[in-house]
Amino acid sequence: MPNQTRDLAISFLANRQLRLNTPFVLAPLAGYTDLPFRLLCREQGAALVFTEMVSSHGLQQAQRRTLAMLNSVAAERPVIVQLFGADPEVMAAAAAKVCALPVDGIDLNMGCPVRKVVKRGAGVALMRSSDTARAIIRAVCAASSLPVSVKFRSGWDAEQINAVAFAQMAEEAGAALLTVHGRTWAQAFGGRADWQVVAAVKQAVGVPVIGNGDIGTHAEGCQRLAASGCDAVMVGRGALGNPWLFAGRERPHNLIERLPLLHRYLELCERHLPVERVLFRIKCQVNRLLGGLPGAAQFRQQVLACPSTVDIRRCLDSLCC
Ligand SMILES: Cc1cc2nc3c(=O)[nH]c(=O)nc-3n(C[C@H](O)[C@H](O)[C@H](O)COP(=O)(O)O)c2cc1C
Repeated sequence: MPNQTRDLAISFLANRQLRLNTPFVLAPLAGYTDLPFRLLCREQGAALVFTEMVSSHGLQQAQRRTLAMLNSVAAERPVIVQLFGADPEVMAAAAAKVCALPVDGIDLNMGCPVRKVVKRGAGVALMRSSDTARAIIRAVCAASSLPVSVKFRSGWDAEQINAVAFAQMAEEAGAALLTVHGRTWAQAFGGRADWQVVAAVKQAVGVPVIGNGDIGTHAEGCQRLAASGCDAVMVGRGALGNPWLFAGRERPHNLIERLPLLHRYLELCERHLPVERVLFRIKCQVNRLLGGLPGAAQFRQQVLACPSTVDIRRCLDSLCC
């Protein structure tokens, strides 16, 4: 399966097609899927990467931190920029800005369960306001020269599973690709993802569908893909600390074998992040990349105490001796 070539035929406007050479896709993860991590996952074999969610209001106001989230380089493509917001006009204006960038698509976040997002009618709240969701998708499609995708959940709670109707609405409104996370708002990130709902969405629409939820290994991804009939699977938490998953490999069981990827990640952070953020980001990810190793707690303590990336490099090398 790792080398299988699949056409995820996202029907781009202007007849462009997004060809994915594996069916494994990196999820948008706020606070994690910045440019260095996306590049790392692409190098391991992720076929497509999503940015973390970007505020449409932040883009409208050209906020410095929001604009920085749009940083991209050719090597990470194909990449899809994810936007969130609840106002069709603001979302359309943000999409128009994204279209000026060398990226491959725009994703609309209709699944985020975080309180401050939902309170403003954005994220998964849109699954309870189909009319607004439809207006956003239509407005963004009209303003965008890029294909538009929508990421949503199975529904609001166990009594309100509306993913199939929502998917049909999104397709009819112009979405070229759908991603379904098989959890409800009420589940947030707990419980188990319901892949029956994911499979039902795939059956109900003509556009490509990416299934998402609880994929922790490459083998699980292959099983989900086959059982759901989805066009691709999206990996979120399973990729944190384990980008090897995209290569179809098990996470190495010793530090020496993990070291090349750790060093590569440091290099990518130094190259692509502003100096003031490098150390913090590296420490977050290295913490996870050391997970599961014998002696991991001690390794972590030593890495977290390092005052610079040079020291982190030395520390990692010394831990291998
Ligand atoms: C820390 C964290 C941040 C996330 N940020 C986003 C985000 O920015 N946009 C989004 O659509 N989903 C976001 N998600 C949801 C994931 O993309 C994914 O749908 C969810 O984690 C289920 O997949 P998994 O079981 O493979 O992790 C986030 C999840 C986590 C745990």
